[in-house]
Amino acid sequence: METTLIILKPDAVQRGLMGRIISRFEEKGLQIVGAKLMRIPLSLAQQHYAAHQGKPFYEKLLGFMTKSPVLVLAIRGNNAITVSRKMMGATFGSKAEPGTIRGDFGVSNSFNLIHGSDSPEAAAKELALFFGKGEVVEWDRANESWIYDFSAGTPE
Ligand code: RTP
Ligand code: MG
Repeated sequence: METTLIILKPDAVQRGLMGRIISRFEEKGLQIVGAKLMRIPLSLAQQHYAAHQGKPFYEKLLGFMTKSPVLVLAIRGNNAITVSRKMMGATFGSKAEPGTIRGDFGVSNSFNLIHGSDSPEAAAKELALFFGKGEVVEWDRANESWIYDFSAGTPE
């Protein structure tokens, strides 16, 4: 099982879309193992988006991410990183396919509602940045055996 870091960005929180976006992950069968509403300090935003430092959109991105609260989630499942990125859709709202979160809820290229880790390395780094020890909660889902087929011992 993989755990990924998802951020419902300031536009998602301000527009009252938190519940609908969380529902998509729950309905898909992914498990919420961490949740935190917070205002991201500038230094944390800089660390989180360090890979984009120097790019033309970097300063605007930091301004957006720190302007208003976000909801940070840790989400677990088989291939959770790839599955979540597919659910999010393409980076720009104007290009994201209908059926994806960005495709269904937004049209802006800058205000694109959601962040998701893009690799296992990024997920490990980002989870450590946003969640302290004990804030990612291990819990057994009552319906786990109906979410995945465990008959071969691994989740299928
Ligand atoms: P994210 O990191 O937020 O999940 O988004 P992403 O992987 O789909 O896109 P990424 O390339 O990592 O870019 C990070 C965020 O920067 C803004 N952006 N603006 N104007 C531009 O060309 C541009 N490119 C990226 C977006 O807010 C994007 O989510
Ligand atoms: Mg990215």
